[in-house]
Amino acid sequence: MDINGKLYRKFLERNAAYEQQNGKDAAKKQHSKGKLTARERIELLFDAGTFDEIDAFTRTAPAESNFGKVVTAYGDGVIIGHGKIKGRTAFIYSQDFNVMGGSLGSVHASKIAKIQDMALKMGAPIIGIIDSGGARIQEGVASLAGYAGIFRRNVFSSGVIPQISVIMGPAAGGAVYSPSITDFVFMTNKTSHMFVTGPNVVKEVLNEDVSFDELGGAEVHMKKSGVANFVYEDEENTLRGVIKLLSYLPSNNMENPPAIEACDTNIEPAPQMLEIVPDDPNKPYDIKEVIRLLVDKDTFFEYAENYAQNIVVGFGRLKGRTIGIIANQPKVLAGTLDINSSTKAARFIRFCDSFNIPILTLEDVPGFLPGIDQEHNGIIRHGAKLLYAYADATVPKVTVILRKSYGGAYCVMNSKNLGGDFNFAWPTAEIAVMGPEGAVSILYRKELIESEDPAKLKKELAKRYREEIANPYVADEKGFIDEVIDPAVTRRKIIYAFEALENKHVTSPSRKHGNIPL
Ligand code: HXC
Repeated sequence: MDINGKLYRKFLERNAAYEQQNGKDAAKKQHSKGKLTARERIELLFDAGTFDEIDAFTRTAPAESNFGKVVTAYGDGVIIGHGKIKGRTAFIYSQDFNVMGGSLGSVHASKIAKIQDMALKMGAPIIGIIDSGGARIQEGVASLAGYAGIFRRNVFSSGVIPQISVIMGPAAGGAVYSPSITDFVFMTNKTSHMFVTGPNVVKEVLNEDVSFDELGGAEVHMKKSGVANFVYEDEENTLRGVIKLLSYLPSNNMENPPAIEACDTNIEPAPQMLEIVPDDPNKPYDIKEVIRLLVDKDTFFEYAENYAQNIVVGFGRLKGRTIGIIANQPKVLAGTLDINSSTKAARFIRFCDSFNIPILTLEDVPGFLPGIDQEHNGIIRHGAKLLYAYADATVPKVTVILRKSYGGAYCVMNSKNLGGDFNFAWPTAEIAVMGPEGAVSILYRKELIESEDPAKLKKELAKRYREEIANPYVADEKGFIDEVIDPAVTRRKIIYAFEALENKHVTSPSRKHGNIPL
């Protein structure tokens, strides 16, 4: 080709026009709001020089029926393409707020759908960076139809490829539902907001004043609604978080998670473990100290760390291999299971099971949280989600009972009969239908009423109950526990257990799908 000729010049001019559209002015607008541009975000996420954009020149045709409000910018407000993240292929769409507020019209939607289809076909993760005012108002029903097509693809891809949403600006109206179907939602503090209806509508309909942050800021979604699973202070760190998360995940459901060169092969006993968990069942401690000692050094990556803190959930590595961890947190609400902790853990288990990630359960739970609020809001059906998720999961499942394991919570937390592959207990474990005090109050009610010193009698009975019933040895002798282990050797035990389960294969009955209690 003649590089001074007309054909090549036209090609260069077209590219230059595109560069100008995404140039300094566009960047200035975003930077003034503390945000990066759609392209800068992509550059931070992908390995240098590996990103290739497609459909950069698609445009929305101007049309009178569009209320005179359509801007015919190149790309129609979204960049799509593929590249490598730490050497592995990933697909992306990144919305450009500078084009009609990142709103979703039909061309914009068809680009997202195209990249979703490609990611699914290639078996690679898809990341959506959302900075959008929602359905493009002037395109009417075509925008709504565009969203519906994206949601449908999100659902088809669920459990096949990891789907990650990163909110880096407004996610209004229709823009919230795709993220909530995806596996993980990241938000950047202060500059991102998610709401179905914004503060103006809230004011109009309910006459209530609420700020963007109060209604749908990152903090609200991390701590109260549970919609956001990872929150970072700025966009650079948010994107680093996405890269870190991907390092634990396989590219699709046919692969195992990538095993990194084992950086921590230590399986020596850790006597410090004995000092973390107090013998006294009423004394709290931080379960994260136990987790950190069990997994490879510095590999624990917590999910939703500020939501339902009575359960701790996240990824870690054992000799370089990814595992998912579910652990009761005795430091918060005594580690009881409530609605939020049940749904948080259930969703995480579903993810791990979809993507061949073995599950480790660390148990110290006095039971379900009692109360009118919990019962009326449906702890029965929400707790059932956790039960269902555990029982339905076919990946290797190992449980260690550290201390309390009472009642329904014993059953739920991956007990042997629910499908636990290896169930270990520490000598401090108390496994029973209920705690000693509660148990003797019911069994010996009459005797306690008639007693001259009921407090003394209750104490004696509780001691006897602990010795005879609420200990790990009864369960061990009945085979509900595979082994009572020295806490110091727990890491070695679980590493060997997961190695033994490496080729676990389960055949499930043929069915369209189960009916998880939603
Ligand atoms: C078309 C939109 C738009 C939209 C914003 N813009 N949202 N254009 N459709 N949904 C345009 C604005 O007109 C403006 O254009 C530019 O984007 C920047 O918007 P500003 O309002 O100036 O920016 P800012 O002050 O930062 O506020 C951002 C915002 C606000 C919070 C997102 O624009 C907003 O509230 N938009 C509407 C959000 C909303 O209610 N969406 C729901 C749509 S219904 P100019 O030309 O001035 O630069 C929906 C239902 C789908 O999504 C349901 C599916 C389940």
